[in-house]
Amino acid sequence: MANRRSSMPNITFEGKNININAGDNLLQALIQAKTNPTYSCLAGQCHSCLLQAPSGIIPPQAQQGLSPQQCERNLLLACQCHPEHDLELQRPQARTKTDAMISGLRQLSPEVTELTLSPRTVFPYRPGQHTTIWRGPYLKRCYSLASVPEQETDLVFHIQHHPEGQFSTWIHQQAREGDLLQLGTAIGNCHYHPQYASRPLVLIGFGSGLGPLYGILRDAIEHQHRGNMALFHMAEEEQPHYLQSELNHLSEQYKLAYSRLVEGSNPTEAVNQHLKQCPVSPVIAYLCGPAAQVKACQRLLLNSGLVAEHIFTECFTDTQIQKDGQNI
Ligand code: FES
Repeated sequence: MANRRSSMPNITFEGKNININAGDNLLQALIQAKTNPTYSCLAGQCHSCLLQAPSGIIPPQAQQGLSPQQCERNLLLACQCHPEHDLELQRPQARTKTDAMISGLRQLSPEVTELTLSPRTVFPYRPGQHTTIWRGPYLKRCYSLASVPEQETDLVFHIQHHPEGQFSTWIHQQAREGDLLQLGTAIGNCHYHPQYASRPLVLIGFGSGLGPLYGILRDAIEHQHRGNMALFHMAEEEQPHYLQSELNHLSEQYKLAYSRLVEGSNPTEAVNQHLKQCPVSPVIAYLCGPAAQVKACQRLLLNSGLVAEHIFTECFTDTQIQKDGQNI
């Protein structure tokens, strides 16, 4: 590739030259160039804008939150990429998929189903990470893992029913044990980090955002977490708080404060009350649920003095429902 350090980097996407306006990221440039890229959150969370760079220098921030295996494959997030050097880009090649059979379906609440999958081969993951689940070649949806590999051989997901969502409607109405699905690689940085074992943990889940938090919480216990833990579950007034008996049981056994809040109430008020009782040690927070609620809560926590790199988030986006590679 030509050396153009003194001028704009030379960016190509599947052989086409791409111009990047000053201040734009790679995804904006690809949209302008009408290359029809897939994307959703624009915030480095959903990973739907993943691209592969067979050659060139990838800016480190474009790989934040990717697994070591993804970095080895030169994958990057277009929405987080501000290229400073030449880059040759293409859509990710040959993503490996894992076959998995439905081994369980359990209603946790009228709107949330627990989906249990038995993978055919080893499926590396940490609780709280997310993966894409395919039904057939076209219908796919991203979900977070609620299971703990050291405690369960199968994989568990909490599926919130969205009446307009093809995948969740299929799970809620038609899926049967024995049905075959496929899984992508587990990715994401929203999982338990053992280096913070002595810090207070605050976990805030909205609706079925409780699923990944239930996995992270049990992973923390599995790692013998030493700091205090507090779990806040936000649910709409008409939606029941599910997993109550399991969480009550955990709170009786471990240093866990478990609170149920009705959505619309201010979670930071309750969180701040809790933080006053925490030791001075910096708090580690996990936020999971619909993107709007998670982002709002993240801002509130930052205003309350939490540090950005100590807040791990998992955002669910409506547009993750995809068909034929397009958002629908
Ligand atoms: S659009 Fe880039 S990570 Fe979601």
